Amino acid sequence: MKWKFSAAIVIGFSGLAGTLFSCSPSPESKEALFEQKADSILKLMTLEEKIGQLSLFTSDWDVTGPVMNNNYKQLIKEGKAGAIFNAFTVDYVRSLQKIAVEESRLKIPLIFGYDVIHGHRTIFPIPLAQASSWDIESIEKSEQIAASEATAEGINWAYSPMVDISRDPRWGRVMEGAGEDVWLGSKIAAARVKGFQGENLAAPNTLLACVKHFAAYGGAEAGRDYNPVEMSQQMLFENYLPTYKAAVDAGVATVMTSFNDISGTPSTSNAWLLNDLLRKQWGFNGFVVTDYTSINELIPHGVAADSAEAGMLAVNAGVDMDMQGNIYNSKLVELVKQGKVTEETIDNAVKRILVAKYKLGLFDDPYRYCNKTREKEEVMSPDNIAFARKFVAKSCVLLKNENSLLPLSMPLKSIAVIGPLANAKQDMLGSWSAAGDGKKCVTLLEGLSSSLNGETSITYETGCGIDDNSTAGFAKAVAAAKRAQVVILALGESRDMSGEAASRSSISLPGVQQQLAEAIIKANPKTVVVLFNGRPLAIPELDAIAPAMLEAWFGGTEAGNGIADVLLGKQNPSGKLTMTFPRSVGQIPIYYNHKNTGRPIDPSKVEKYKSKYLDIANTPLYPFGYGLSYTTFDYSNVIVDKVEYGASDTIVARVSVINSGKYDGEEVVQLYVRDLVGEITRPVMELKGFSKVFIPAGSSTTVTFKLTSNDLRYYHSNMEYTFDAGQFEILVGTNSAKTKKAIFTIK
Ligand code: BGC
Repeated sequence: MKWKFSAAIVIGFSGLAGTLFSCSPSPESKEALFEQKADSILKLMTLEEKIGQLSLFTSDWDVTGPVMNNNYKQLIKEGKAGAIFNAFTVDYVRSLQKIAVEESRLKIPLIFGYDVIHGHRTIFPIPLAQASSWDIESIEKSEQIAASEATAEGINWAYSPMVDISRDPRWGRVMEGAGEDVWLGSKIAAARVKGFQGENLAAPNTLLACVKHFAAYGGAEAGRDYNPVEMSQQMLFENYLPTYKAAVDAGVATVMTSFNDISGTPSTSNAWLLNDLLRKQWGFNGFVVTDYTSINELIPHGVAADSAEAGMLAVNAGVDMDMQGNIYNSKLVELVKQGKVTEETIDNAVKRILVAKYKLGLFDDPYRYCNKTREKEEVMSPDNIAFARKFVAKSCVLLKNENSLLPLSMPLKSIAVIGPLANAKQDMLGSWSAAGDGKKCVTLLEGLSSSLNGETSITYETGCGIDDNSTAGFAKAVAAAKRAQVVILALGESRDMSGEAASRSSISLPGVQQQLAEAIIKANPKTVVVLFNGRPLAIPELDAIAPAMLEAWFGGTEAGNGIADVLLGKQNPSGKLTMTFPRSVGQIPIYYNHKNTGRPIDPSKVEKYKSKYLDIANTPLYPFGYGLSYTTFDYSNVIVDKVEYGASDTIVARVSVINSGKYDGEEVVQLYVRDLVGEITRPVMELKGFSKVFIPAGSSTTVTFKLTSNDLRYYHSNMEYTFDAGQFEILVGTNSAKTKKAIFTIK
């Protein structure tokens, strides 16, 4: 009979919530009430049941690692699972939740997690592409849509945003992040959290976000996934930690630890990182989950001798939930008995998880995220698809456009669409495509065919595979190119060449694609290359011969339609790269906000003892912030309103931008700062602001930026976060390599 009694208590507390909340309580009082309620449940729980709440298992649907436990349904029944991931759709989630709330002793509902990384069913461009839009509102909106689709199908926890900054395009997971810049990455991190979580986590269309992978996972040595991270405190605090902090400040509900170690301590056993920095200093009060089997991995990392020690290190470091490792379930009871882990530590972790369940409203209605009507109406709705199409166009970056080959001038009698990615439906999804269905993706060939509406004759040839050595298809492709007025050549990577465990040591075009490009461009110089890839590529040979190149990334469900809109001039491209494209792998790491060195190169002189390579320029192929438009923008000089400011003054910089071309267009006006004399060496420039402005052809606009000395702070040698008085440069321009500057002084 005990189970009935405890269930009544749980329901009774929900009733109490109803009364207390009738006069809109403050978030703090809500939180306090949830904590009280969690305490009441804790009193009813056995140690095994408490530990069960700390255990997360995958269902048998989508898996990204070893399956440690196949009997997850039995575990739910026994109260040994607090959450499940990789389970979605109303019926499936309902069936699992039913086991928890009807068959387990305490009837505590489960949380359902999933990797909702760039859309749920409607798949948006990969996050790196989204960042290239510099459109924070659209990024936030894409997460609102993703949350509404995911929650309609039972999910209430997204393993996103991934905010790992990386300066290494060999690392396959750069496709999941915002690129190399910490300032932009922080804005995007906050927008994603807001998009997922909205104002109220109990709303049926919002969910718990999970910022990952804490911390500095993108700093993996040599760009090889899971590799160690070694960096100075300054580097960590200045360039790698702020994006997670931005997510915490935006109210992110959960944090995922990273696989890597930092200076020898794996994140999953890093008490300084989780207990001190995240919780005490940053004030994070949600729960921390590991990445997939990260506790188990403390053994091969070499910091734990066995599973018991691994479990002890993790829980004492502040890890609340064990993803898929089954270590907490199997080892924590004994560790508590031995006094190696206190029951208080367990209680605190359980409490944080129960509070999250209250916030989601799961105790009021465990099925609130299983809604057939919403599943039918909201998933892949026409509005979501229309938004996705626009977002694709906004994410495209025009890399080259000689003789204004683009937009294609109509009417066109014939086009040849060539290349291994021209009609590759599944690849359009990119990696981490959640519940996305490749069959529903629009390819470039399909997008062009429907946009051209039968008025232009289209021939299609693959030419070659993405990554094989056969040139057997070249002849037909060359013949098609010769016959057509214009060629659209779709090249790049397959979707599984980026993402997790997908690092590459060579980031040029795979297979024989470069040779294909040479043959096609020779056959028809009016060739537009459209690139599909999940990372910056090193493609100087292609850049040397292609008259026009559009970086289209992996655009998701509406990829082909959005790209067709750009090629045909219905949308003027306005995307700008958020990650540097190197000329060669040998330049990596290459990033815009590098230090000057004591021997900076002077490009106008040949001098031996300078910081340079013998065989290649220091400059990238395409710099951070780079991207063309069909129109042209001319910048005036930058004006600062004073030459000298006090420490508490607002620094005001203005620039006027003229659209001097034929098309209306949007421009991302970028503002960088350089501290000319620091207490320690400072980057040659740092992004501190941008404004995306629409300027009609022939018009101009004035963009005003405001900064304060807070924006000039950095971590000094004693780790004090402050700014230096003295001279600064303000650099404003169309990309990081093309700016105009003004100088000011802080007294
Ligand atoms: C990835 C995480 C992901 C998790 C669950 C891991 O392999 O590193 O980013 O959230 O799997 O799918």
